[in-house]
Amino acid sequence: MAFTPWYKDMVVYHIWPRSFCDGNGDGIGDLYGVLYRLDYIKSLGADAIWFSPLYPSPNADWGYDISNYMDIHPDFGDLTVFKRVLKEAHERGMRVFMDLVVNHTSDEHPWFLESRKSRDNPYHDYYHWRPAKRGRGGRLLPPNNWTSVFDGEAWEYDSNLDEYYLHLFAKKQPDLNMDNPKVRDEVKRILRFWLDMGVDGFREDVITFIAKTPGLPSAYPRIPVANGLRHYSNLPAAHSYLREFKRDVLSQYDCFVVGESPMTDADTALRYVTEGPNQVLDEMIAFSHMEADCLFVDTIPRPFSLPKLKKALSEWQYKLAGRGWNALYIENHDHPRIISRYGSEKYRTESGKMLAAMYMLLQGTPFIYQGQEIGMTNMPLPELGMYKDVMTFNSARILGKLLPQKKVLSIIQKGTRENARSPMQWDDGPNAGFTTGRPWFFVNGNYHEVNVRTEDQDPNSLLNFYRRLIAFRKTTPVVLRGDYRELYPRDKNFYVYERRYFDQRLLVVCSFSPELQRFNAPEDVRLDKWQLVLTNYETCFNIGNGFTARPYELRVYLYGEAAL
Ligand code: NOJ
Repeated sequence: MAFTPWYKDMVVYHIWPRSFCDGNGDGIGDLYGVLYRLDYIKSLGADAIWFSPLYPSPNADWGYDISNYMDIHPDFGDLTVFKRVLKEAHERGMRVFMDLVVNHTSDEHPWFLESRKSRDNPYHDYYHWRPAKRGRGGRLLPPNNWTSVFDGEAWEYDSNLDEYYLHLFAKKQPDLNMDNPKVRDEVKRILRFWLDMGVDGFREDVITFIAKTPGLPSAYPRIPVANGLRHYSNLPAAHSYLREFKRDVLSQYDCFVVGESPMTDADTALRYVTEGPNQVLDEMIAFSHMEADCLFVDTIPRPFSLPKLKKALSEWQYKLAGRGWNALYIENHDHPRIISRYGSEKYRTESGKMLAAMYMLLQGTPFIYQGQEIGMTNMPLPELGMYKDVMTFNSARILGKLLPQKKVLSIIQKGTRENARSPMQWDDGPNAGFTTGRPWFFVNGNYHEVNVRTEDQDPNSLLNFYRRLIAFRKTTPVVLRGDYRELYPRDKNFYVYERRYFDQRLLVVCSFSPELQRFNAPEDVRLDKWQLVLTNYETCFNIGNGFTARPYELRVYLYGEAAL
């Protein structure tokens, strides 16, 4: 884990490789495309790249089902081109993080293929195999009542063994048995393989799920999705396995580790990220702030609630203060585009800028997801059959039991994570400049307006705002180190917070309203004495000690010296 806290000052660019940039014309994003775009990533001010999985995979879950942890998927290139990306990223001063997916493998991974050959195969115990039960009339019954996140029951029957295997995600993603020390040794080998090559760290996929309650008991009362959660989420053994990975491998490298932790609150996160001898992760990826317009998952929609968003962000800011470090994000490959959710497509640039500053000026390490920086928006498809993602299929299946097809389609259009997986929009040429071939997935029709080339040339674009914002962050101690205090927590239109660091103070005012709204500054702030350092409207003036905010207006005021 990182010897010095360099990770606290970095900005990370997240690549979902299939849709980033196609360098060889086969319609699929790849590492040749990444090489070509490294200067672009650097031009944002990014210090690191996190790659969603690049490994060989049958793509049941687009790379999160891995069949070989120590190679590169031929769609993306090979180890030689990966090493070149690594070298060239390093030459540009950018670190590279891999996705470590070890809660499960693909069912086509050689370990699993071996494990299903016989009950006494040496790999059998790499996975959670359990004998089938028999109900009335000899009916087959799974070992417990857990349900999977993606695919109905969490168990799949194998007639050859007369056993079931556990899969918390898709059927093609069998869960590894981390209790088996041999599996943990395999994980350590994987970590060393990439670290010895020069990789700088990992984003660890659903890492809080890696330990299961011994005996795998059924869970009651039943919940409709992910029943059994309390038997596999944040168990003490997960912490001890991570401690072992740290002790045996990670502590010997100057690397960074961020863990993904669905349905984990800040108190629980502190068990992993509190700085000191028990720390096992540098940061944790929170979820609660991504649930301000839905119930746990994006496909159970609710009206957007600003108080809910503020509460979630503030909880992590306050609880981790002085103890751990936040991972900050508003988009990734698992959620719809943020402007279409918390902002407004009508005020795309204004709300995009406001949302950018809103999260990037908090305490923590910001992650930017490809396309977020140019304000890409959701891409609703006209038919369910056009979607390509296992989680989308599962959501449509569950919703289809309760609702008419038309309603299901409209929920999927808004809520599917595939909204974030359309090809990156590089220019206004064919296929948005993503490929010279036939793109593997649909390109968002708004690419004539929303693309890198157009925004690059416009000083007022969202893209150039991101560049300014990142530069400001890096040169402003109060952003990097300051403490956090939320103001007006109950206000339904504004998210307002203050950061403080010695004599420097920062006031961030974000309107989430499409209407005009009056903002009055707090009593101890005299706006005319503060410097307006960032905003999303060209002309700004105060009326009294406040202003009338225009739709999605952002104002960031600084008190004290501006630059380092
Ligand atoms: C979280 C990943 O981000 C997501 O894309 C994937 O489907 C699940 N984990 C399962 O690996």
